[in-house]
Amino acid sequence: MSKNVLVIGSGGREHAIALRLSQSPSIGKLFCLPGNPGTKKICVNVELSQLDYQKILEFCNKEKIDLVVIGPEQPLVEGLSDFLREYQINVFGPSKSAAQIESSKSFAKKIMEKADVPTAKYKEFLKTEFDEAIDYLKSSSYPIVIKADGLAAGKGVVICESFETAKETLESVFTKNIFGNAGDKIVVEEFLIGEEASVFAITDGKDFITLPPAQDHKRIGDNDTGKNTGGMGSYAPTPLINQALLNEIENKIISPVLNQMNRENIPFIGCLYAGLIITSEGPKVIEFNCRFGDPETQVVLPLLKGDFLELLYSASVGNLNKDCVQYNGRAAVCVVAASEGYPDSYQKGFEILGLDNIPSDIIVYHAGTTEINNKIYTNGGRVLGVTSVIEQNDILLAKQKAYEAISKIYFEGIYYRTDISNRISKYLNLHKE
Ligand code: AMP
Ligand code: GLY
Repeated sequence: MSKNVLVIGSGGREHAIALRLSQSPSIGKLFCLPGNPGTKKICVNVELSQLDYQKILEFCNKEKIDLVVIGPEQPLVEGLSDFLREYQINVFGPSKSAAQIESSKSFAKKIMEKADVPTAKYKEFLKTEFDEAIDYLKSSSYPIVIKADGLAAGKGVVICESFETAKETLESVFTKNIFGNAGDKIVVEEFLIGEEASVFAITDGKDFITLPPAQDHKRIGDNDTGKNTGGMGSYAPTPLINQALLNEIENKIISPVLNQMNRENIPFIGCLYAGLIITSEGPKVIEFNCRFGDPETQVVLPLLKGDFLELLYSASVGNLNKDCVQYNGRAAVCVVAASEGYPDSYQKGFEILGLDNIPSDIIVYHAGTTEINNKIYTNGGRVLGVTSVIEQNDILLAKQKAYEAISKIYFEGIYYRTDISNRISKYLNLHKE
């Protein structure tokens, strides 16, 4: 029987989720709320506010929605899943309590501590404990990492090279409130050295499967320089993580965390995103997110053969079908086209040209775009995710195709990194002993 699905969100990640769902044999009607000009080509965009829960519920009832997939963290952290589940609507996405794994670093650390999951050593301090925090920072070795406890739009992490910068950071967070309420508590943690990767686990709260590991490129500049962004590009699968390492990540990280959350009566249903660092002592957790990553989703989902809708639906009803998707042997590279100035202030409203010249084997995911009179304009910091997916697992060839495609696109101030996926050269001999 076909299923009607509503995807919540408007970014490149939601475009990728909707596109993959649209290819499922069991898809019925597909909606995206509010969606973007990219999702409009594959589903019906719904002009409702993500904050208007009552209207969303009415829409689900009217359209007989079988599954709601919530893309971004904000509605999850605010409890949209709980609200819809109260009315017997199937949701792929964690409850508000389970979403704390992302919305509170301190919560995540405590779960990891109890489950004996490898992560950076840490200590937490409340705003009222400024002096204790200073004493701790005086006796610490450097660099050290200071993190706001709450959600800070990816900006709540400061790596401090010396006691002086740590002290300044502490003053900015506790006295000047640069992170608002998100900084009422901080986590101070050990600086870990190693290469980073993102692993997504799809779970019904008990069972899980992991998807092909990806790597994000967080910094704005080539060679990982400049400010942190939401992510300037991604590729998958990353040779940094081979099957043996993935098994270790499943056994030492994903499985114990899900079990611990179950023991605490807060089962996690959805996509558990493990942000990892592969240290000389093995994989350790930098952070968890309670949803798919952006722009990693744009490269991970095209690497799945099988029924993606069945995967998400079976997870949402607590009966995960672990065999309904497999890795298809391909490789994908996504290069984000951003507005000049991002991640700081930038202008919007420039016409995007060249979209019609893109070969059909390239996916151009829309993120910050808007459509006016059949023309597409920039409308955000991260504008497009130009993604090549190739038959064989050859990241270098996929990279070449992604860059050929992005060179055909133009808008005023277009900016992109030129080195997405270059890091694989470091990993190609990594697991060959
Ligand atoms: P997050 O916002 O938690 O993803 O952190 C942003 C970036 O800060 C990560 O991608 C890492 O590069 C870096 N980072 C966070 N925590 C640590 C840590 N304990 N050691 C080293 N780098 C870290
Ligand atoms: N790509 C990083 C994130 O989704 O948080």
